[in-house]
Amino acid sequence: MPDGRIAVIGTGYVGLTSGTCLASLGHEVVCGDVDPAKVERMSGGEVPIFEDGLQELMRQGIAAGNLTFVHGARNAVRGARFIFLCLPTPDGGDGRADLRIVHQVVAEIGPLLDPGAILVTKSTVPVGTAEDIIVTLDRSDVSVVSNPEFLQEGTAVRNFMKPDRVVVGSQDRAAAEAVAALYDKLKAPKVITSAESSELIKYASNAFLAMKLSFINSIAGLAEVVGADVVEIAHGMGFDERIGDKFLKAGPGWGGSCFPKDTKALATIALDRGVSFPLLAATTLSNEEAQDRMADKVRDAAGGDLAGVKVALWGLTFKANTDDLRDSPALEVALRLDTEGARLRGYDPTVSADLPAKNGYPAVPAAGDAYDAAAGASVIVLLTEWAEFAEIDMTKVAEVAPGAVIVDGRNLLDPQAAVAAGLRYVPLGRRPPGC
Ligand code: UDX
Repeated sequence: MPDGRIAVIGTGYVGLTSGTCLASLGHEVVCGDVDPAKVERMSGGEVPIFEDGLQELMRQGIAAGNLTFVHGARNAVRGARFIFLCLPTPDGGDGRADLRIVHQVVAEIGPLLDPGAILVTKSTVPVGTAEDIIVTLDRSDVSVVSNPEFLQEGTAVRNFMKPDRVVVGSQDRAAAEAVAALYDKLKAPKVITSAESSELIKYASNAFLAMKLSFINSIAGLAEVVGADVVEIAHGMGFDERIGDKFLKAGPGWGGSCFPKDTKALATIALDRGVSFPLLAATTLSNEEAQDRMADKVRDAAGGDLAGVKVALWGLTFKANTDDLRDSPALEVALRLDTEGARLRGYDPTVSADLPAKNGYPAVPAAGDAYDAAAGASVIVLLTEWAEFAEIDMTKVAEVAPGAVIVDGRNLLDPQAAVAAGLRYVPLGRRPPGC
């Protein structure tokens, strides 16, 4: 295991998970954040995000004394050998990632770093960022390494501890190897590349997965028209090892903090360099169409007009097992329904208060449970694949929403149970029961 303390700058999903997991591998980790109140809460073992297994690991690290939280990047980096930048790189509005925070922090901490320190970019950054950081840093005795994360929200701890691969890239091979060695205990394959390749591996992976999802969602639309079944199709495709059976579940479109932003950013990277890459624009367009098709289904279920129709939304987060609403396909569908005058009420296991109108999405009053949301609704649409929805008692649903239509946007529910309870059931990309 390489010697040297690790500083993690930024304690969002990526920073907090990476810092905590690196500490659990035995490294000494200091996490710095700009928010003093958050630092205090984390020092007390409080996890500010919903992430399975994180709290326990964080408390263990704090108790063992090798995981600490401090206010400010400056306090974190003093004496550190590895400095992981886990800072936000939001969409700058034109599809390009906004790197201002990254460069501000590099300029702030650069003069404080020990000779031989290694600055590591962990957040997703455009190709060429490592080179740009070298310029901002202006220190020939400090190396810059790209080490992208591949964490999925909800399973981030598991993804960190059992990665498919560890990717590290730099023009300084020894620095890249030192960063790779931090993960020795994980026994994962290590891919050591140039900084440019490493930066691009992250974008290429996310955009490829988004493309796979857009593909299966378009197949779902086609399957409905020709009378095929997208679940059977995905099953049949998945046995081909070149395709694989993961990420082939049709749904109301993909979202979250990474796929939409990264797919657009990669398209812009290609465009800026004059490289034609039409699949990327098509991937985003197909996703919008998947969201449109879901709204179409709800309108059809309501008899062709949504004005004044009560619609229950089961699930609001962008996927199950997270409390993250960022770029949620559920909210995209809610927006389409709201625009047509539907009266929405939502239930999500992680949303306890009414959602205000925000970021272009409509306000959604929050119900206490799935039955509460369904009460009096003409249409119920399942948008997020929370496991608890599969346990719903359809007889109880029929009691509170007699004659309702259930649109199952994730093919999660038991169609026969819904029909037996007297409800109409509309699946996605497959025939409704009895057809
Ligand atoms: C993603 C990448 O998977 C991860 O490697 C990267 O580091 C960050 O972005 P995450 O944003 O947590 O992770 O979401 P992910 O689990 O990949 O799901 C993305 C979207 O695809 C969700 O909206 C999800 O519901 C949808 N999805 C996923 C499907 O609709 N069907 C599937 O079969 C899988």
